[in-house]
Amino acid sequence: MVVHYSQTGQLTEIAQSFTKPFGEAHVQIDWLEIKPIKPFIFPWSAPRFFDAFPESVDRIPCEIEPLNLDPTIEYDLIVLAYQVWYMNISIPINSFLQAPGVDKLFANTPIVTLVGCRNMWVMAQEDVKNRLKGFGSRLVGHVALIDKTNNLVGLITVLGWMLAGKKKKLFGFLPDSGVSDEDISGASVFGTHVLEHLEQNSWDGLYEKLQASGSHFISPSLLLLEKRGSKIFKIWSRFIAGGSGQPPGHPARLNRARVLTFVLPLGAFILGPIMAIVSKIRILFSKKELDKEIEAYMGSDPVQ
Ligand SMILES: Cc1cc2nc3c(=O)[nH]c(=O)nc-3n(C[C@H](O)[C@H](O)[C@H](O)COP(=O)(O)O)c2cc1C
Repeated sequence: MVVHYSQTGQLTEIAQSFTKPFGEAHVQIDWLEIKPIKPFIFPWSAPRFFDAFPESVDRIPCEIEPLNLDPTIEYDLIVLAYQVWYMNISIPINSFLQAPGVDKLFANTPIVTLVGCRNMWVMAQEDVKNRLKGFGSRLVGHVALIDKTNNLVGLITVLGWMLAGKKKKLFGFLPDSGVSDEDISGASVFGTHVLEHLEQNSWDGLYEKLQASGSHFISPSLLLLEKRGSKIFKIWSRFIAGGSGQPPGHPARLNRARVLTFVLPLGAFILGPIMAIVSKIRILFSKKELDKEIEAYMGSDPVQ
């Protein structure tokens, strides 16, 4: 089974490329598309984009269409394709993971996680690892495809993509946003490794094989930024939620979210370079400790 959701089509394209070898080998795949009852409209208006903070960060599910799972089917493998929203699992996939019957679907089942995001997925994957542990599933592989552009340039281009729908050459000269076409088509290489193990009916060694072939990579400076950012995101999330049980889209919430329209880019462009320098110094002085931390995050067991 492939579980997927995508606003722009990027993640679905990644999942299709990843499973191409399965199709060629005539492996039967059930595609389970997650559909929020109230769709997240793309491109986003700026206030709605930032209004997604509280539910993303606090992992509050939205309503999704019934999954119609067949409880008699035991899948040989489930590919959980997800994107990251504010350093957490996106609201639609988080909602799926909390839906009735998903615990049974995932129990004792091998899982491959397939991420398509901008460049920060480590904290979200920790959450996924913990939930899989709770379901009693085995994480047998992880693939994370990212936008490899410089972090600050990528932040500008992703905002152009998300808020104006302009993915290619923002302002006529900036690089395209999102995962490159080359990396999307290259995802089938990882799918080939997974297929080999599926056919052998043994998952031993797959995680390490995928990792060795570049399925996921953690940059020390991005990890430091992500860890710091996820703490700041909790504060912003509380600010937007307002603590008074206002639902997403509430006018007062949207007004507070408007503040972030200015604060987030400002924060990123003033604090970003300062943090980058601080991170470089930390990397210099505590390289061994950081390398150890990265090794743990790269693995299949939860760190936190
Ligand atoms: C509300 C929102 C927040 C996002 N936050 C992050 C983030 O924290 N880290 C990241 O790497 N990507 C982030 N992204 C980018 C997404 O992970 C993803 O790459 C992009 O939305 C395209 O996915 P799609 O397949 O759903 O179209 C965010 C996107 C949205 C819409």
